[in-house]
Amino acid sequence: MTIDPRDFEYISALVRERTAIVIETGKEYLVESRLARVLRARKIPSLGDLVRALRAAPGHGLCDEVVEAMITSETSFFRDAACFALLRDKLIPERVAARPRGQRLTIWSCACSTGQEPYSLAFLVQELAGRGAGRNVAILATDVSESLLQRARQGVFDQLEVSRGLPAELLQRCFTPSGKCWQVKPQVRALIEFRRLSLAGRWPALPPPGIVLLRNVLIYFDVATRERILERIDGILEPGGCLILGSAETTFKLNSAFARRTDGGAVFYTRRSA
Ligand SMILES: C[S@@+](CC[C@H](N)C(=O)[O-])C[C@H]1O[C@@H](n2cnc3c(N)ncnc32)[C@H](O)[C@@H]1O
Repeated sequence: MTIDPRDFEYISALVRERTAIVIETGKEYLVESRLARVLRARKIPSLGDLVRALRAAPGHGLCDEVVEAMITSETSFFRDAACFALLRDKLIPERVAARPRGQRLTIWSCACSTGQEPYSLAFLVQELAGRGAGRNVAILATDVSESLLQRARQGVFDQLEVSRGLPAELLQRCFTPSGKCWQVKPQVRALIEFRRLSLAGRWPALPPPGIVLLRNVLIYFDVATRERILERIDGILEPGGCLILGSAETTFKLNSAFARRTDGGAVFYTRRSA
């Protein structure tokens, strides 16, 4: 199956309009492979037919399906162990200690995919609460994709997913078996609020986060979008707050307000003035 250049342009423009994700020329194979399952499920003979259907009914459910199919959702529990160790040992306890008693700390997982990132945070917060350092912490988890959020809200993970990054002790303590899968216990789930939000779209009023995880998502955007998102995060981050990016991402040349800090092999960013 090969895609006509005009059809490729149509799909990449649609995905960019809805998510700001850039699919560059040369990534035709990605469009072909990811949309193959939409064609199969919808019994549409070819990509040309799919684009004709999209053009005939823009805004229809098929558009959502195509956009969702093009999103990279790769994630795992405690992805980048050094960063989660830093959150547990330093960043969360420090942010909790820095606030007046009773004032809640919000940790924002900006592109939460199927939920492994915010659930990893919830496990840490629970552990810290047991030591008195994680009380009154809320986790806000957002994503542009409604289908990924639906999965995240359910908190049900299969054997492969729980075998990626999750310590056996946490699986035993924080999950219950659910058929062939595992479900996160309600008391852990209750620490997280899931909301749909496009980083490139309008943001609703949000509680000023003390810690922002913006991980493995900036890489999909163009430079102007990366700059705009970092500027907005700088605008809402609480004083003394910090930002964590994916290991291949940086604020360098994008936003001079943030300074790069390292600790025990993990990288995080604070405002230069902090
Ligand atoms: C590769 S996953 C990263 C998941 C997680 N942050 C991690 O590091 O494991 C990228 C996520 O970014 C989300 N995403 C893409 N464009 C977005 C946008 N405009 N606003 C919010 N989330 C977006 C995708 O839906 C997907 O869940």
